[in-house]
Amino acid sequence: MADLTVELNRLKLRNPILVASGTFGYAKEATAFVDFSQLGGIIPKTVTLLPREGNPPPRTVETSCGLLNSIGLDNDGIDTFIEKHIDYLTSLDCPIIANVAGHNAEEFVVLAEKLNAFPQLAGVELNMSCPNVSGGVDFATNPDMTRQVLAAVREKCNLPIIAKLTPNVTNIVEIAAAAAEGGADAVTLINTLMGVAIDWRRRKPILGNVFGGLSGPAIKPVALRIVCQVAQAVEIPIIGVGGIQNLDDVMEFLVAGASAVQIGTASFYTPGLASRLPGELNELLDHEGVARVNDIVGTLQYPNSVPAPCAKV
Ligand code: FUM
Repeated sequence: MADLTVELNRLKLRNPILVASGTFGYAKEATAFVDFSQLGGIIPKTVTLLPREGNPPPRTVETSCGLLNSIGLDNDGIDTFIEKHIDYLTSLDCPIIANVAGHNAEEFVVLAEKLNAFPQLAGVELNMSCPNVSGGVDFATNPDMTRQVLAAVREKCNLPIIAKLTPNVTNIVEIAAAAAEGGADAVTLINTLMGVAIDWRRRKPILGNVFGGLSGPAIKPVALRIVCQVAQAVEIPIIGVGGIQNLDDVMEFLVAGASAVQIGTASFYTPGLASRLPGELNELLDHEGVARVNDIVGTLQYPNSVPAPCAKV
């Protein structure tokens, strides 16, 4: 039996396979398909300070090897999350990492402070990168804002903090470095890529909110590239996400430098995937003679003739 446990600074997980926020509801929906006791962790849908109705429909559209969504952070707000969902979620045999989004640094702090009252949570993921609301993606496009939000949240919240970053930036390395400086225990790479789907016959965009975030296998090479860049340049544990749909995909992210991964879009079409992967990973590591999953993290060998993807910051 390989050792699948992972430590992302203060966040300790029994295995590196988590389910991504926004693709798993508040877990109840998955009960029939998923053995929660196998998962490394569940990250429920993003919660905001106040309830949000979300964006006008249609909110999702299938694209080539991908899914474009513009949900707009539809949720009932933090107080309802605490009242109706936290007890159930934390009663499951699985670490729960709450996910929150604020319109500004103060909102992130209030949200994190409220969650700080629940030490049974394994951590908090800050969604600093939703492309579908104003005041969403902007945080993690600016290193100073990223650093400030993290530092302010760290001051008021003792839970492990993960920063979920956007790929829709020029230099992801400086944003990840700012998250590390602000005190993030780990970064999640990546949220969705901004895109648009068009019905040319009607001369109309398909999504009600026009633009959306692209996820699924189509974005895996971009997510891997970003994991490679950050892993080489910044000392912070990485949780990789983007298009993972089988064990080979998991291994690619680990070798690239992710210490853990999230399964997102694939849960919509293979709901049991995430709970099968830890067992499959265990078997593969045994077969490869690898004693601890951590031993393969970041073992990608770059050819000497190719410059490192990104300089240290
Ligand atoms: O629109 C949404 O609710 C998506 C959120 C996200 O990608 O973070």
